[in-house]
Amino acid sequence: MAAPRMRGVELRPLSGALGAEVLGLDVNRLDTSGAAWLRAALLEHQLLAIRGQQLEPRSFSDFAGLLGKREVYPFSEPIDEDPFVVPIVKEPDDQEVFGGIWHTDSSYLEKPPSLTLLHAVELPVQGGDTLFANMYAVFESLSPALREVLSRLRGIYTADLVHGSSGAFAAAAGADRNRREPDDVPVEVSHPIVRTHPETGRKAIYAGLAHTREFTGFTRAESLPLLEYLDGVARLPEFGARLAWQAGTVAIWDNRCVQHYALDDYPGERRVMHRIIIAGDRPV
Ligand code: SIN
Repeated sequence: MAAPRMRGVELRPLSGALGAEVLGLDVNRLDTSGAAWLRAALLEHQLLAIRGQQLEPRSFSDFAGLLGKREVYPFSEPIDEDPFVVPIVKEPDDQEVFGGIWHTDSSYLEKPPSLTLLHAVELPVQGGDTLFANMYAVFESLSPALREVLSRLRGIYTADLVHGSSGAFAAAAGADRNRREPDDVPVEVSHPIVRTHPETGRKAIYAGLAHTREFTGFTRAESLPLLEYLDGVARLPEFGARLAWQAGTVAIWDNRCVQHYALDDYPGERRVMHRIIIAGDRPV
């Protein structure tokens, strides 16, 4: 169902697959009914890019708190001013970018974050876009037989593939200038491969190469071809949107039905983002 309109605010689709720019909204002045409108728009579009925000870290955090319960991200030190705001920084000489692999945030947790907010603080002159994939559409594009098989499978999800020192995709954890070693992240958790969104009731592929080690009961070697196939489908342009950041853009995405990928195409330049995650449910 389409979100009701909000006076003076325009929603402009980012692509045919997902995402909308939000124009004319000042999140510093948002009240609870505005936040409810934003949440409804997010359920419809899965990704929102609110343009032109003038936000100090504390007001970014206050705004995030209107959307749900903020959580501490286990793998990075937050900024001094606020325990929920994590800086994502790529310095000109860094060789790795944080989030440079298709993933949904922290699916290695028992209750992974429902939403992520990212505020563009300092951007390269060009590049540094983020790609997003509509994981409902990925699921719905599969043959009925594969959908049925995947719907019965569970997977082993672990932080080790990205955050472990010898992880297969350790480069996607980025340069580790803010890294901290958490003591409360489970070694592995079991989640379904196909997730039913708790608010829309729609099904989406939840698994991904970044954090899904294997299908439960299968070896990793047996699981990888199908995980790689799903990763390939998620990359298809038909299912995606590309967010070109502007200074002051605040993006919000729904990790329960979206995967994303940070582009590393701005060598020698600096990019600084502030990130907050919002608590979620145990996937079913
Ligand atoms: C992330 O993966 O959460 C960061 C994405 C980005 O920096 O564009």
